[in-house]
Amino acid sequence: MNGDIKAILISEEEIKKRVKELGEQLSREYEGKKVIMICLLKGASYFTCDLSRAMSIPVRMEYMVASSYGDSTDSSGSVAVRLDIKDNITGLHVLLVDDIIDTGLTFARVKNLLQLKNPASIRTVAMCDKKDRRLNGMEADYVGFTIPDEFVVGYGLDYAGDYRNLPFIGVLNPHVYARTK
Ligand code: PRP
Repeated sequence: MNGDIKAILISEEEIKKRVKELGEQLSREYEGKKVIMICLLKGASYFTCDLSRAMSIPVRMEYMVASSYGDSTDSSGSVAVRLDIKDNITGLHVLLVDDIIDTGLTFARVKNLLQLKNPASIRTVAMCDKKDRRLNGMEADYVGFTIPDEFVVGYGLDYAGDYRNLPFIGVLNPHVYARTK
């Protein structure tokens, strides 16, 4: 699998260090508040688990699946919820967690939907931020790493369903796309 990776962009050690920092920051800022983390599957699963374990305050967990659909060049923001949260989030402080913010459409849409459920607050946490790709001015409240517009995989990020379980974030070798064309 590692032969398919052109370069390591963010090492396992760098990820661990940044997750620890974010966990400590969130623990300080949310001390005394009832927090629920909502993980956007599948990509955010690794990051969300590690981040929650880096926090020293109690955190509830929930999971959602939201997928974009339609023409990939379409910027209208069609995002469908395929799996919704089960718990009531009224009065809770929500941390909406994703592996990457790219166009920003997923965060914008899901945040709007969650707002209707009357949480005390909602903030977004993105492990990676591809700023150059944004279509809607959406910004994540907490960002692990700002990254260039390259095809990255690992630590939850996939290409056609593969490479999520790499412990680092790497740039995919172009021969992989050629192979699947
Ligand atoms: C990816 C990623 C984010 C979203 C970000 O999800 O995990 O949820 O796209 O893109 P956006 O900012 O342009 O909306 P994907 O639909 O590929 O699902 P996955 O998490 O199962 O990989």
